[in-house]
Amino acid sequence: MISDKTFRIDGKKIPFQDGDTIMDAALRAGEYIPHLCHNPEFKPNGSCRVCVIETNGRHVSACNQPAIENMEVDNSSDAIMNLRRSLLQMLFVEGNHVCPACEKSGACQLQAVAYYTRMLSPHFTHFFPCRDVDATHPEIAIDFNRCILCKLCVRASRDVDKKNVFFISGRGINSRLVINSPSGKLGDSDVAVTDKAVAVCPVGAILPKHKGYEKPIGERMYDNKPISIVGDVAAVFSSKIYSKDVSTK
Ligand code: SF4
Ligand code: FES
Repeated sequence: MISDKTFRIDGKKIPFQDGDTIMDAALRAGEYIPHLCHNPEFKPNGSCRVCVIETNGRHVSACNQPAIENMEVDNSSDAIMNLRRSLLQMLFVEGNHVCPACEKSGACQLQAVAYYTRMLSPHFTHFFPCRDVDATHPEIAIDFNRCILCKLCVRASRDVDKKNVFFISGRGINSRLVINSPSGKLGDSDVAVTDKAVAVCPVGAILPKHKGYEKPIGERMYDNKPISIVGDVAAVFSSKIYSKDVSTK
């Protein structure tokens, strides 16, 4: 049943149903809220915080904040965009993201959201962590340097593939993605190139082999249209396309 309840995002009326988060209702209404760890097919995880919005004087994550009737949401002020940009800059310096050399460049959600928030530099000092590349699987490679710990592969492998190949170990700055196999290597795990966990990575961390640089520059996912129109990796996979470009605000 369609509910007649609404709230407002940047002054625009957004209908919602009981149980919706702000993100659920926004995406259904074609209103883009930047996000990285959110995927409508999975329960919200709330780890990246890039979906931060302001409502009632508080900063909250849109992906796990329930929608409330008549609430006013700020999704595009300079203050909110600056906050998101800082979070993205931290993500960039925590890992080793060498965009010009990455096969996912032009089709990477982290890069696309950074462009959307007009990030021009990493701003913070790079950590340059020492991380591995695991190419032991015949069809899949994982570059831990690019992992943003969004847990999408963890959720997909557990909830869809029913394999539990990926999990997060450690806490805070010591958190890292690990492979559940006898040797800790991907080649020794149950993962298959057709798994949801392989398709769902928003960055260039988990990649099918033998397909690098398939599309030339200019033809990649976000080369001509921003993520607010094209949608994220998950949305493209499930054929959900955002309808509105709010990037020019
Ligand atoms: S490998 Fe990809 S999907 Fe998995 S946690 Fe890292 S960034 Fe997310
Ligand atoms: S998308 Fe909401 S916290 Fe990551």
